[in-house]
Amino acid sequence: MLGTDLVKACDAAGFQAIGLDLPQLDVRDFNSVREAMPQADWAVNCAAYTRVDDAESNRHEAFAVNGEGAHSLARVCVRRGIKLLHISTDYVFDGRKSRPYVEMDRPDPLGVYGASKLAGEKAVRAEGGHFLILRTQSLFGVRGPNFVRAIVQKAARNEEEIRVVEDQVSSPTYTVHLADAITRLIRLDKQGVVHVSASGACSWFEFARAIVERVRPEAKVVAINSSELKRPAPRPAYSVLDNSLYNAWTGHPMPAWSEGLDAYLKEEGYA
Ligand SMILES: NC(=O)c1ccc[n+]([C@@H]2O[C@H](COP(=O)([O-])OP(=O)(O)OC[C@H]3O[C@@H](n4cnc5c(N)ncnc54)[C@H](OP(=O)(O)O)[C@@H]3O)[C@@H](O)[C@H]2O)c1
Repeated sequence: MLGTDLVKACDAAGFQAIGLDLPQLDVRDFNSVREAMPQADWAVNCAAYTRVDDAESNRHEAFAVNGEGAHSLARVCVRRGIKLLHISTDYVFDGRKSRPYVEMDRPDPLGVYGASKLAGEKAVRAEGGHFLILRTQSLFGVRGPNFVRAIVQKAARNEEEIRVVEDQVSSPTYTVHLADAITRLIRLDKQGVVHVSASGACSWFEFARAIVERVRPEAKVVAINSSELKRPAPRPAYSVLDNSLYNAWTGHPMPAWSEGLDAYLKEEGYA
């Protein structure tokens, strides 16, 4: 989802970008990374095991991709002098804070997915070299199954009521906006850790209401508690990321989640 939009954003920014995916590059296999990776100024690691619930029962696979996979990429990048921008997640935090998370906050993941992504961050840091770890959250874009499309489809099916959790708050981020942010950071040659998500925050319930208002206002959205869903993986209750560092670096605040939603609906042809 993100990788495809990133290649487009790089083209628009005047970078020559090459998108690599399975099967030509498998991050679980060091030799595959070494052989498939071309010489470049930067590599952006958008590869991940992203099935948060499945990760609870597939710990080995989640760590192989998100932890050891990140390590293999970092090793190849350091050996070749390639700068590495590694994408990570708000799920490295436990969500018990009540103010947006800053880069220096202590990670403490609740589930296997978050733990595996944190292992990836640690591997990238340990390898050294020029790296930038970018944590983002709640992505939606046309190339992936995503929350917005799921709600639009439920509304279109005339489901009696659409039940959505209201006790999880984040900043839903449009992949096109994030991809543009990544090109800005690359241009500035930044390193370290940075948080980048849409401006503003909302619960999934509020987000679903905003979606429905735009595509089928008569559909009914009902707020529920996450305990009612009985999903295998725990999720952080409040994982809003503080974008201050990104804003200071780029002088270009991220668009609001509602702007991302409008742009996405237009791109999908829903609005
Ligand atoms: N989606 C979110 O809400 C969210 C939130 C915060 C952070 N992130 C992070 O953002 C990044 C991009 O996520 P996304 O939402 O764009 O996810 P995505 O659509 O699932 O993309 C991940 C890509 O990685 C590929 N992949 C899986 N295993 C691989 C392997 N062994 N070697 C090479 N490629 C492999 C997948 O291929 P297949 O499709 O063939 O498996 C897929 O193309 C990830 O680092 C993710 O952790 C995502």
